Amino acid sequence: MSKTTKILLVGCGKMGSAMLKGWLEAGYKKEHIRVVDEAASRLPVKSYDKPSAIERTFKPDVVVFAIKPQVAAEVLPLYAGYKGALFLSIMAGKTIATMKRKLGNNAAVVRAMPNLPAMVGEGISVATGKVSTAQRATALALLRSVGQAEWVAKEELMDAVTAVSGSGPAYVFHWVEAMHKAATDMGLPTNVAEALVKQTLKGSVALMADSNIKEIQQLRKDVTSKGGTTEAALEVLMNTKSGLLQLLSRAIRAAKKRSKSLSS
Ligand SMILES: NC(=O)c1ccc[n+]([C@@H]2O[C@H](COP(=O)([O-])OP(=O)(O)OC[C@H]3O[C@@H](n4cnc5c(N)ncnc54)[C@H](OP(=O)(O)O)[C@@H]3O)[C@@H](O)[C@H]2O)c1
Repeated sequence: MSKTTKILLVGCGKMGSAMLKGWLEAGYKKEHIRVVDEAASRLPVKSYDKPSAIERTFKPDVVVFAIKPQVAAEVLPLYAGYKGALFLSIMAGKTIATMKRKLGNNAAVVRAMPNLPAMVGEGISVATGKVSTAQRATALALLRSVGQAEWVAKEELMDAVTAVSGSGPAYVFHWVEAMHKAATDMGLPTNVAEALVKQTLKGSVALMADSNIKEIQQLRKDVTSKGGTTEAALEVLMNTKSGLLQLLSRAIRAAKKRSKSLSS
């Protein structure tokens, strides 16, 4: 795809600025990018505090919505005039039908869910929408500037995606907090505990990076010798009534349920 794609980014907070950085690093031309955000004056691209200030000659191929879902109803109609553009939303819970009501029934809309590691180019996004093959490729290329991206046909799967990868980084951060607490409770100094937990996570992720789920299961078995320390811990973690599987299933289902109830 041409890196001269004209992009209008609406909302340049945590996710918007991560995406902007990714696009520039991926070779999208800054002359072809505009940003609308009230507080976006120190950006490497032309930015505006309101859409009416954008030069009339600028015709975006893609309008990316990285604003909070709460302001969508008032903000989206301001961009409905960009007929023919692809609208790419990363807003949690905003359905394509809801967005089309604000952008026009014929608008080409892609709904995506990225996650926070996009800030370091290691995000994963899932996208969906009934758009042309070229528009789908454009959306995926923009999302792949900040990590991996997958496409799903069914929009209703976005609640599960939100529950697994959208909210997922927080589960991992809490895992680190919990291991750190257990380590310091046993007397390890906080900085040593921090190093042990973070490097164990980093090393384990590196070890399993190119492995499939069966191989990852095998890696777990490789660390677990009969009657050893890991086995003692896993007897607790893999308890069929109160183990991690049950806990994480409950947590992820709660997130999915909330995502569904917030959808509009
Ligand atoms: N953070 C995540 O992990 C994550 C993951 C997946 C999806 N998302 C989605 O990404 C979206 C953005 O989240 P975020 O974490 O980046 O939020 P954020 O940091 O609050 O960014 C939102 C930005 O939009 C700006 N804004 C507000 N009203 C605007 C308007 N009328 N026109 C243009 N810009 C406006 C805000 O400016 P002010 O601060 O001045 O209001 C802010 O800079 C959300 O819809 C969220 O659901 C986030």
